[in-house]
Amino acid sequence: MKALVLSGGSGTRLRPITHTSAKQLVPVANKPVLFYGLESIADAGITEVGIVVGHTAPEIEEAVGDGSAFGLRVSYIRQEEPLGLAHALLVSRDFLGDDDFVMYLGDNFIVGGITKLVKDFRESGPDAKILLTRVSDPRQFGVAVLDEDGGVIGLEEKPEDPKSDLALVGVYLFSPLVHEAARAIKPSWRNELEITDAIQELIESGARVESEVIDGYWKDTGNVDDMLEVNRIILEGVERRMDGEVDDTSQIIGRVVVERGARVSGSRIVGPALIGAGTEVIDSYIGPYTAVSENCRILDSELEFSIMLRDSTLTGVRRMEASLIGRHVHGASRPRVPNAHRLVLGDHSTFEISS
Ligand code: G1P
Repeated sequence: MKALVLSGGSGTRLRPITHTSAKQLVPVANKPVLFYGLESIADAGITEVGIVVGHTAPEIEEAVGDGSAFGLRVSYIRQEEPLGLAHALLVSRDFLGDDDFVMYLGDNFIVGGITKLVKDFRESGPDAKILLTRVSDPRQFGVAVLDEDGGVIGLEEKPEDPKSDLALVGVYLFSPLVHEAARAIKPSWRNELEITDAIQELIESGARVESEVIDGYWKDTGNVDDMLEVNRIILEGVERRMDGEVDDTSQIIGRVVVERGARVSGSRIVGPALIGAGTEVIDSYIGPYTAVSENCRILDSELEFSIMLRDSTLTGVRRMEASLIGRHVHGASRPRVPNAHRLVLGDHSTFEISS
C-alpha cells in the first residue's frame, strides 16, 4: 500500500495566516500541519509516499526532504496546474502503479491518525473508503448522502443546497479501480476534476464504496477558533520537557516544553504550553494552551490560549487571550502616548479591543 499526499494549491482561502504560500506548512502546535499527516502515514505502516506539488514545490521539498526524518521514502510528483484532486491522481498514475493507496490532503488534520482506518480497509477490501464528519457549513465541502445502513448513496461537491451535514474529510482509501473512474469524469463548474465525482462514478459503476464517520477533524479555512481548538487538542498530549534555559526566578507549572535555545527568566508558565527554540520569555506570564514558535521575544507581557508564530515580539502587552499572532508581528504598549490604539494590521486581519 502506498500513500499519495496532495500538497499543491495556493491557500488563497487561508486567512489571515497567508504569509506562507504553502497552506500545508501552516504550523499547528509549532509543527506544520503536513507533518502530522506524514507521521500518521508512517504510523499506519506505509513507507512509499508520493507528494503532489504545485508552484510551492520548493518550500514543501525543503521542509520534507527525502522523507527519511519521518521514516518514509518520499518522491515528488509535479502537478503543473491545480486542476483538481482527481487530476492529481491522474498525474500520479505511474507512481501509484496497481497498488492500493491512501490519498491524504496535506492541509487536513485528523485527530488520532489513520492507523485503524488503513487496517480496516486492508481487512475488508472495499473498492474505496471515504471518511465523513459532521460540519456546520457543508457547502464548503464534498457532501455525502448515506442510506439507513451507512452505505453511500451519492456524493456532491460543494452543493448550494446540501442534502446532509456529512462532509468528505480529506483522507480517502482507494483500490486501483479509481484510476478508470478518474479518467471517465469531466471538469466541474470550477474547472477541476473532482475526486468527489470520481467516487460518484465508482458508486454508479457498482463498485463497493464504504464510509466511516469520524470526529476530530480540522481543515484550516482561516477560522481562528478552529485553529486554537486543534492547537489545544494537540497541547493536551504534550509531555513536560526542559531543553532550554529556565532561571531560578521562573516558575514552570505542569506540562510545558521549553525547546533548545529558548530562555525563560522571571516568568511564570502554566502548561500545557510550548516555548519554541530560540524564544525568550522575560518577566512574563504564559498561560495554558499557548504555543509560541521559534525566535519570539515576550517581554513584560501576558499571553494565554493563543498561537504566536515565529519571529514575533510582545513588549508590555497584557493580557492577550484567544489570539493568533502571525510571523514577524510586533506588539507593544506605549503608556505615555495619548489614550488611543495605534495598529498596523496586515490584509484580512481582524482585531478586538477592550473599550
Ligand atoms: C476538497 C474536496 C472536498 C473535501 C475537502 C476536504 O475540497 O474537493 O470534497 O470535502 O477537500 O478538505 P477543496 O479543498 O478542494 O475545496
